[in-house]
Amino acid sequence: MLNHSGSPDLYTRRLHLRRYRPEDYIMMYRNWASDPEVAKYVNWGPHNSPAVTKELVSMWVEGYESSTVYRWGIEMAGELIGDISIVKWREEAESCEIGYCLCRRFWNQGLMIEALNRVITYLFETVGFHRISLCHDVENPASGRVMQKCGLRKEGVFRGAQRRKDGSWMDVAYYAILAEDRR
Ligand SMILES: CC(C)(COP(=O)(O)OP(=O)(O)OC[C@H]1O[C@@H](n2cnc3c(N)ncnc32)[C@H](O)[C@@H]1OP(=O)(O)O)[C@@H](O)C(=O)NCCC(=O)NCCS
Repeated sequence: MLNHSGSPDLYTRRLHLRRYRPEDYIMMYRNWASDPEVAKYVNWGPHNSPAVTKELVSMWVEGYESSTVYRWGIEMAGELIGDISIVKWREEAESCEIGYCLCRRFWNQGLMIEALNRVITYLFETVGFHRISLCHDVENPASGRVMQKCGLRKEGVFRGAQRRKDGSWMDVAYYAILAEDRR
């Protein structure tokens, strides 16, 4: 049985993971949502105006009324620099899948490893998930490295499993970690 607890404040050495606020759309648009490089390997396209981000953030803020919403803005030194969220979950399997993205100026400083580790600990220890998985386009190896460094194991590559936004087929690498792997 999962103990759904929503998206409380979580802290790491450098980061504050927190719920979105309506006004965050300004920083989110500027820092990552409008950046084609950030959107290159994800299933959404770069936002072409702040109004798009504003609408999304306001929907997310409303979503926090539900304790089954797990979505955090990643804040460092008062600046919103990224997102980490559960993108899918299955109650009966006590399992979920996480997605994340970070403002390009902050890449390669170990920040997503720090954020993901904290979220995994919360989801295992407080919510009680049994299995957490993530996946990435094989052409995006930095994301796979984050997963490995957080202790997830590669379970395989599904060839041609999804279409990229440009219409080409993507090989998708799947990683997962079980609660017992952390004990
Ligand atoms: C993927 C992403 C979240 C990584 O965030 P990050 O904070 O830069 O990641 P970290 O610094 O914590 O770790 C990155 C690791 O990948 C490594 N790395 C970076 N570029 C790499 C590359 N091209 N090939 C292999 N490894 C790479 C880094 O060296 C680091 O490993 P290390 O600690 O062993 O040196 C960030 O690049 C991003 O937001 N990308 C755009 C959105 C995205 O792709 N999201 C994931 C979709 S699955």
